[in-house]
Amino acid sequence: MAKYNSIILPTLLAVWLITFLPSRASRNQNGDSYVRDACSVTRYRDLCIRSLSPFSNTAKHNPSRWARAGVSVALAEAKRVARYLATLKRNKDGGRIRGRNRIAVSDCVECFEDTLDNLHRSLYVLRKLSVREFGSQVDDVVTWVSAALTDEDTCLDGFDEEKGGKRVKPLINRVSNVTYMTSNALALINKLATAGPECLKNG
Ligand SMILES: *[C@@H]1O[C@H](CO)[C@@H](O)[C@H](O)[C@H]1NC(C)=O
Repeated sequence: MAKYNSIILPTLLAVWLITFLPSRASRNQNGDSYVRDACSVTRYRDLCIRSLSPFSNTAKHNPSRWARAGVSVALAEAKRVARYLATLKRNKDGGRIRGRNRIAVSDCVECFEDTLDNLHRSLYVLRKLSVREFGSQVDDVVTWVSAALTDEDTCLDGFDEEKGGKRVKPLINRVSNVTYMTSNALALINKLATAGPECLKNG
């Protein structure tokens, strides 16, 4: 008996693994394919897939959920960067950022206030989309998210990377990151606009 068990148990285990694992793998692959499909319209695709994959299984093929997810991750990151900029500005030695770059930090704090306003408003409207008002709602959101992107670009333009050296580089990277996420959100909103109000009917 013991001799048989040593064969049967591993065999059962192998059968169980073969039947169970592929189904899990294909489930993950499905989740993956939703986010890949959604992000195919974006410019910064890797960042899109990385930041939006947690929404894959709820958003599936729903363009309005993807647009909302895009704006909400851009907003979350913009909030973090805005807090960081505000801390730098308040800091007595300004994180040892000088001259033109120090002024840029101050200007960025204001630009980011506008950015946050515009992204907040957009998210609010995206949560209340209706078939009847779809056209004007989506137009508004496109306008606001574009304005958010412009403000972020204005912030970036203020920096002089060559004079800032290693203190300014990480700042530029973080702000750039927000512009990429906002650009991705805008692409997802444009996809929603193309899909039209019919896409609201299935959830
Ligand atoms: C960009 O944002 C993502 C998401 O919040 C974050 O994980 C990543 O560290 C950021 N990269 C930079 C360079 O700030």
